[in-house]
Amino acid sequence: MARRVTEVLAADAAAVLGLPTGRTPMPLYRLLARLGDEGTLDFSQATTFNLDEFLGIGPDHPGSYHAYMQQHLLSHVNLPSTRAHLLRGWTEDPERECARYEAEIEDAGGIDLQLLGIGANGHIGFNEPGPHLMARTHRASLRPGTRRANAIFFGGDSDAVPKEALSMGMGTILKARRIVLMATGKSKARAVQRTVHGSLTTRVPASFLQLHRDVELICDHAAAAGLGTR
Ligand code: F6R
Repeated sequence: MARRVTEVLAADAAAVLGLPTGRTPMPLYRLLARLGDEGTLDFSQATTFNLDEFLGIGPDHPGSYHAYMQQHLLSHVNLPSTRAHLLRGWTEDPERECARYEAEIEDAGGIDLQLLGIGANGHIGFNEPGPHLMARTHRASLRPGTRRANAIFFGGDSDAVPKEALSMGMGTILKARRIVLMATGKSKARAVQRTVHGSLTTRVPASFLQLHRDVELICDHAAAAGLGTR
């Protein structure tokens, strides 16, 4: 995954990257941070857009994805802060914030490489399974399981995890020119299996990645366990 990032930046120093948070990309960011600290990774002309952010907490909240990105990547690489874009979860006007974000992605020329993690329930970004999905950046309600999975960022207390978030929509993600989805651990095996072999369904948001012409899946053996079966 780190190689995908370095290759894209080597081909185009001004590439636009879409970035996830969560546990899965931590080793990736550790590696990129090390390259950044060594001065061998140049983010000086790059632009990044994070997938999502919790609603109702500020950038200094330790559970915020702002704090996560600062800790895991941004404090280690030479990316100008004006080009590190994250949704402002503390906004007074979520709808306007979502529209602003969509416009910023457009103004940047769209996303060249979108990195994704996947929820055990098949969500990508905070596009949760349900009767419908949203195309554009929107305000999203988080499922109890998703809040539990994020408790590690809130002192282990899932009740402290916000009930809502702002997230890129399915269309925002699918418009990226290239997508790399990563999954690790057996808790993701079913979601990976349904993403790759299942039918397109709003019950497994990641299944819509089947519609994209350039998606790569990088996973460990545990997450890939269901891929031999249909
Ligand atoms: C986070 C995000 C989520 C996570 C997913 C998996 O920005 O977009 O979709 O990728 O919840 O989270 P982990 O990696 O913690 O299992």
